Amino acid sequence: MTTEADHGIGEAVAARIERRWVTLSIVIVGLLVGMATYIGIHQATMPQGHVETADPKTLHLSGEFVESNLGSALETDGSVTVRAIGQQYSFTPQCVVVPSDTPVKLRATSADVVHGLLIEGTNINTMLVPGYVSELPVRFRTTGDFVMPCQEFCGVGHQGMWGKVRVVDQAEFQKLAAARRRLTCVD
Ligand code: CUA
Repeated sequence: MTTEADHGIGEAVAARIERRWVTLSIVIVGLLVGMATYIGIHQATMPQGHVETADPKTLHLSGEFVESNLGSALETDGSVTVRAIGQQYSFTPQCVVVPSDTPVKLRATSADVVHGLLIEGTNINTMLVPGYVSELPVRFRTTGDFVMPCQEFCGVGHQGMWGKVRVVDQAEFQKLAAARRRLTCVD
């Protein structure tokens, strides 16, 4: 049998438990907000991990981005690395050739000012900042030609700064790669 007094005690207990949960919820929300704030500030103020640099003044003289090393390279694991440079007002190579259904690593930098690199029909959209290497993974599902415009205003010739990506099937790429160390589709 329950009495009026029992009801009163039950209510008090329920209220206490409720308050405890409210406090816990506030603590959790506060903790999440704190984490988000910390991560946001940390990312905005700290340099990214794995920042790679490339001196724009010596790109053409030595290192990874010398002209003879630009274009697409077939790696021993079957993946492809593409190296490219943006400069006022073109990309080198002007035409990038890659195989379909293959992991491709795009590595690019700028020889002068900030450029943008966008490949139509993909989620590739990055900035080429002088002094830094931009690296993006990409995989093309279908063969065909894709336009690659500069999407960052870089001077009077910006509108005319276009490149192209040609995706060929794996067999065709293998054939090209057997003949040359670095591939492009520049005629
Ligand atoms: Cu280069 Cu706009």
